[in-house]
Amino acid sequence: MKTPPLCRFSLSMAGDLVAQLDAMARTKGYANRSKAVADMVRAHLVDHHAQAGNRDIAGTITLVYDHHKRNIQALLTDIQHDHGNLIIAAMHVHLDPHHCMEVLAVRGRAQAVKQVADRLIAAKGVKHGKLTVTTTGKDFGN
Ligand code: NI
Repeated sequence: MKTPPLCRFSLSMAGDLVAQLDAMARTKGYANRSKAVADMVRAHLVDHHAQAGNRDIAGTITLVYDHHKRNIQALLTDIQHDHGNLIIAAMHVHLDPHHCMEVLAVRGRAQAVKQVADRLIAAKGVKHGKLTVTTTGKDFGN
C-alpha cells in the first residue's frame, strides 16, 4: 500500500504530560514522539470505529467452556454456522481434561461482529468470552 504523505502539525499540552509521554515512548521503544502519538491515535480510532456499527472491523472472539456441559459444543457450532460470513478462521485448543478454548477470527461490520460475539459469549456453558477488536488495516496510515 502506498504511504500517505505526512502532515506536520503542532500541539500544546502541559509540560509534565509531555515528559510522561516521552518517558513512556522511551520505555516502549518508540523511535520518536510522533510514532508514539500516532499509535495512541490509532488505538482510539479502532475503539471509535468499533462503536460506530457500520464500520468494517476485524478481531478475535475467545471463548472458554467445559465441553462436558450438555449441548455446548453443538450450540456454539450452530451459532458459528449461522455467521459463516463473519467468522474467517477458528482454532480449538483442549486446555485440560474439561476445558476447551476457541479463538475465532472475525471480520465484518462492527455491529454484526458484536452481535455474534454477544451470542457466543452468552451461550449457556461458556465460562468466559471476550471480543478483541482491531482494524482491518485499510483505515490508517503508517
Ligand atoms: Ni477441546
